Amino acid sequence: MSVEYIKQKFPELDRIQDAELREKVAATFAEAMRLGGWEDFDGVPFTLIVDTLGEDMVAHVRQVTKLAIAVAEARDDLDMDLIVAGAILHDVGKLLEYERKADGTVGKSANGIILRHPVSGAGLAMVMGLPEKIVHIIAAHSKEGEFVKRIPEAVVIFHCDFIDFEICKSKQGL
Ligand SMILES: [Fe+2]
Repeated sequence: MSVEYIKQKFPELDRIQDAELREKVAATFAEAMRLGGWEDFDGVPFTLIVDTLGEDMVAHVRQVTKLAIAVAEARDDLDMDLIVAGAILHDVGKLLEYERKADGTVGKSANGIILRHPVSGAGLAMVMGLPEKIVHIIAAHSKEGEFVKRIPEAVVIFHCDFIDFEICKSKQGL
C-alpha cells in the first residue's frame, strides 16, 4: 500500500516538523500494511476486546493523536514531534496482530497469538530506523510499559490511548 494512502488517512502526519521522521512514520505504516497483507483499513477495529461502536483503527489512532497534541499544546515541556509520531504509530503493530479472515471479518493472526502489538510494533519501528524514543513509546503504550520507566511523551500516549478505550467501554456500561 502506498505512502500516499497513509498520508491521506492520517492528516496529523503534517504536524511532524522533521521531514525525515514524517516520511519514516508513513513508511512504517505502509510496511505494516504490506507485512500484514492489508489492502486498506476499511472495517479494521481498534480492538477485538470490546465492541468499538463503529470506531475503527484509523479513527482511534487519529483521536489518540489529537488528544496527545492537545496535552502537548497545553504544556511547554514535551517534544511535539515525538508526541505526534508516537501517537500515530502506537498501534501500528495491530496490523500484524490482526488479519482479515476469509469471511471478511477481522481477527487475531497467528503472529498476534504469540506477539502483542506493542511488541511487534516496536520491532517494526526499530527495523524501519525510527528513533529509540519512538520505539519506546510504541513498546510502552500499554501494560508492557509497566516494566520500564516511561519517558514523558510515552506517559501522554499511554493515557490518551486509555481515555479513548475507556470512554468506548463506559458508553456500553462496561
Ligand atoms: Fe490504541
